[in-house]
Amino acid sequence: MTDASLDEKFPLERMRRRILKVNHAGECGAIAIYGAQSWFAFVWDGELKTFLSEARRHEIGHRDRFRRAMRERGVSPCPGTALWVAGGCILGLVSVCGGKRGVYACTAAVERAVHGHLDEQIEFLAGRDDALMDVIGEIRIEEAVHMHEGEAGYNPNCQTAKGFTGFVSVVVEALIWLATFGDSQRLRRALPPTEPSRCTGRGSVT
Ligand SMILES: [Fe+2]
Ligand SMILES: [Fe+2]
Repeated sequence: MTDASLDEKFPLERMRRRILKVNHAGECGAIAIYGAQSWFAFVWDGELKTFLSEARRHEIGHRDRFRRAMRERGVSPCPGTALWVAGGCILGLVSVCGGKRGVYACTAAVERAVHGHLDEQIEFLAGRDDALMDVIGEIRIEEAVHMHEGEAGYNPNCQTAKGFTGFVSVVVEALIWLATFGDSQRLRRALPPTEPSRCTGRGSVT
């Protein structure tokens, strides 16, 4: 699809609003996931405790950066943000049932799904809203750290982990689809194909 037809199909104003709303709501959900997992910090070892508190601190920073970008562009938060928070708490608690590996598997599944969308948003925003593209690009670096830590913390060949991460991916993708009124999926289809990545199916992961 050419740039002109992409602009016609995905007007910047609408896309920017949807990207900001879904990303901000997603960060609120991520804070809730790491927060719920941290309630059980007393049972985790030092490494996982440190990971959870660092990741939560990052997500709070991401939420605040997206909120600032929203104010600058006159965009209000997604009305369904409370649902993302509730869903994040539930998902965090469910993952705790799988112990340390459940926590890491949950992180890997959520961050993998998020990462794919961030790649596409960056690709779309390039030359259209470079300031927002830079914000997402910087946040993406920390999300990649979470994703890699998550992936290193569980066995991807375990059938239970496969089922759990598959379920989490479907839920996250569905939420993103709903929050963007389907634009997330349409944009994925419209963007030119890039070199497949083991994590996202799109561009490379740093
Ligand atoms: Fe984040
Ligand atoms: Fe993250």
